Amino acid sequence: MSSIPVLFICLGNICRSPMAEGIFRQLVTDAGLSDQFVIDSAGTSGYHVGEKAHPGTRTILRQNGIPYEGRSRQLGGADVADPDAWLIVMDNSNMNAVRRRFGDHARLYRLLDFAENYPEVSEVPDPYYTGNFEAVYEMVRDGCEGLLREIRAKAKL
Ligand code: 4NP
Repeated sequence: MSSIPVLFICLGNICRSPMAEGIFRQLVTDAGLSDQFVIDSAGTSGYHVGEKAHPGTRTILRQNGIPYEGRSRQLGGADVADPDAWLIVMDNSNMNAVRRRFGDHARLYRLLDFAENYPEVSEVPDPYYTGNFEAVYEMVRDGCEGLLREIRAKAKL
């Protein structure tokens, strides 16, 4: 069976979506499912293309034993062309930006749509502005756990 593409999307691809990518990849690895997924992240903007993840994201990932070497890149048409890809945005503004540029997509979701512990929160706050990488880490992790549960159930993994 071909691998399932999962792409995390935020504005700059230096804070939230790299965090989600690193966490989700670790969850998938721990579940012994690495061969079944292609996991990546991208930004709706090109503001930080080529840059490493924000020091706040690198630090919180490192503190949690999660390696991350990715560099920022901008979302492109090829990313949204696959109808089977899961496109996971961090907030409503990301969602609108994706739809404006590429139209709707059957598997375009907000990460916190899958979260268990944040029933009242639908958007991941941007630590680029708040500086609170710890709180965002907990939210993103909860969302990633729920997302993996959902995909496993749908794909019978
Ligand atoms: P991210 O955070 O979308 O979570 O990567 C941001 C990074 C950069 C900017 C905004 C948000 N910026 O305006 O440069």
